[in-house]
Amino acid sequence: MCGIFGYINYLVEVDRQKIITTLVNGLARLEYRGYDSAGFAIDGDKKGEVMAFKEVGKVAKLKELVEQEKPDMTKVFDNHCGIAHTRWATHGPPSRVNCHPHRSDPKWEFAVVHNGIITNYKELKALLETKGFRFETETDTEAIAKLAKYIFDEHPTIDFTTLVKAVIKELQGAFGLLLKSVHFPGEVVAARKGSPLVVGVRTEKKMKVDFVDVEFTEEGVALPAERASQNVALKKSAAGLGASLGAGLLAPPDKSLLHRSQSRAFLSDDGVPQPTEFFLSSDPSAIIEHTKKVLYLEDDDIAHIHEGQLNIHRLSKTDGTSNVRAIQTIEIELQEIMKGRFDHFMQKEIFEQPESIVNAMRGRLNVEEKTITLGGLRQHISTIRRCRRIIFIACGTSFHSCMAVRGAFEELTELPISVELASDFLDRQAPVFRDDTCVFVSQSGETADSLMALRYCLERGALTVGIVNTVGSSISLMTHCGVHINAGPEIGVASTKAYTSQFVCMIMFALSLSEDRASKTQRRVEIMEGLGKVSAQFKEILEMDQKLKGLCMKFKDQKSMLLLGRGAQHATALEGALKIKEISYLHCEAVMSGELKHGVLALVDESLPIVMILTRDDIFAKSLNAYQQVIARKGRPIVICNTGDEEFPGDKTDKIEVPHTVDVLQGLLNVIPLQLMAYWLAVAEGVNVDFPRNLAKSVTVE
Ligand code: F6R
Repeated sequence: MCGIFGYINYLVEVDRQKIITTLVNGLARLEYRGYDSAGFAIDGDKKGEVMAFKEVGKVAKLKELVEQEKPDMTKVFDNHCGIAHTRWATHGPPSRVNCHPHRSDPKWEFAVVHNGIITNYKELKALLETKGFRFETETDTEAIAKLAKYIFDEHPTIDFTTLVKAVIKELQGAFGLLLKSVHFPGEVVAARKGSPLVVGVRTEKKMKVDFVDVEFTEEGVALPAERASQNVALKKSAAGLGASLGAGLLAPPDKSLLHRSQSRAFLSDDGVPQPTEFFLSSDPSAIIEHTKKVLYLEDDDIAHIHEGQLNIHRLSKTDGTSNVRAIQTIEIELQEIMKGRFDHFMQKEIFEQPESIVNAMRGRLNVEEKTITLGGLRQHISTIRRCRRIIFIACGTSFHSCMAVRGAFEELTELPISVELASDFLDRQAPVFRDDTCVFVSQSGETADSLMALRYCLERGALTVGIVNTVGSSISLMTHCGVHINAGPEIGVASTKAYTSQFVCMIMFALSLSEDRASKTQRRVEIMEGLGKVSAQFKEILEMDQKLKGLCMKFKDQKSMLLLGRGAQHATALEGALKIKEISYLHCEAVMSGELKHGVLALVDESLPIVMILTRDDIFAKSLNAYQQVIARKGRPIVICNTGDEEFPGDKTDKIEVPHTVDVLQGLLNVIPLQLMAYWLAVAEGVNVDFPRNLAKSVTVE
């Protein structure tokens, strides 16, 4: 959570107006990651001066603040660094003072924006207070800025990268960071560990080193020559800071200070630096309006931007990571991250599903030839077939999509399947073995609970698979193999299209695993044919939009509702209930129909809204029992059933009719009316659908 954005221009003349507009627009694109407050730091009117603007609330408020304060917008810079942040509060409530950027001191010698959590900030703060630093905020981030100043004051000849390395060696937790400093004008250092960071590059002329992969050069020692002689003095000066602080910086030039770096100079044919602009962001959606050339930083990467160059350094030399950071061309189009004709991103994303589902299957499912090709799994598929069990691990909506396909996996693979909430899995320290396959399902690929569970499984030697939407995200990089769901950017905080695309990708995964089973041939064909029809069926269901809007008006002013489903439709009920709760704030409980009689039935009366999922499958007769129990208590359920099902007379129930499909795919269709209902309930309540209170899109904290 939290979005960070940076803009650096080199040999490109821009006025302050453009700098501020670029930063504020970048923040607006990242607002879905947090909208408690927003701020940015830019250069002031005089050399060595920093201007910061911070405001509580959404980015629009920050824009208003700038308009009120009227900085001189005409001042021109041909080399300038701006850093910006939109916040989802973790440490300290939303307030101007807790808003990023944070500073080392009233003169803003070091300014920092941060996404993530520094878990040892209290220790750092206590140590720095003993050194005379006065903290002004309740945040964990402030300690980073102050630590940078402390180290700089002790070692004024240090270069910016070495300084940031020394700082991050002291940090525990997760971070994506941008630092700017009056001591290093025109330079920004970015670092990542656990929180995503992307660098975008725009150059005006052809470059000598065009966008090609470059191996890191092994440079040897990071310490500047004169530092070696300083070491003794450095050790002395930092001794009072305690055992941990300063250890990285102060150690003799041993292996921990060796680093690899990749240098990419944007030079003309005759070696002259070219006009270049750099954009740093928590995700590429804020960059694509400027450039499609991006480089994804990996954990322990430190990016140094200065004099038109981008240098990537690593914290350690021998950590087994890839030696190559390639600049890639991203394929997202601007309209994909705009609302277009829709009022909200969530609404747009619900209506994108006929297309996003096709993108999940494109080039993978061949209905005519009855084949599935999942290139990202090819190398490991036979190992997975032989594994002891498959454990699905995820959070929230992604957890529900795993629940929804569990039965299909059990049936097609005949392997033991378990589905785990990442946080609970870790709390229990559940046993994991080398012959387990652990599947991590995540839209963002950055969810902290899932990432920690992934590390836990990697440490135990399990084979790990990622089912991820965001290309270049931590989960997609850290897993052994996987499938990108290709749903495109999902901006609405409430996940919709990612759910259906995860569902489809996992079904294709199960179909791939069962390819070698003759006994499953007929069933596989039936499911593949069903997949081929889903997109058209989605379109049919979406035509009910206005009818569902009308239905939702009946629930206006209700305080609570029930959503009932059985078998795989329990997952659909869980997902529908989560959508309704998170965006309309209406309490909605999902109940496994078979459990109704064991307690929840006491809630049923003629007024409680109840939605029952009663599409036809092999447990339909059992699901009907719950329906009868509700009718007998004068309940008047709204039924999601198959088109034309005469079991449900119109005078006793409101019906939402959905097309029939193969049982294992029915949940894909059934969830769509629930997404639409959640949407219209929220609109009726006047909730800002894309920005529900207290939530953020990407949950990068435990
Ligand atoms: C709900 C929602 C969340 C996420 C959960 C996991 O609409 O979006 O419940 O599903 O935070 O996020 P990812 O899938 O990014 O790991």
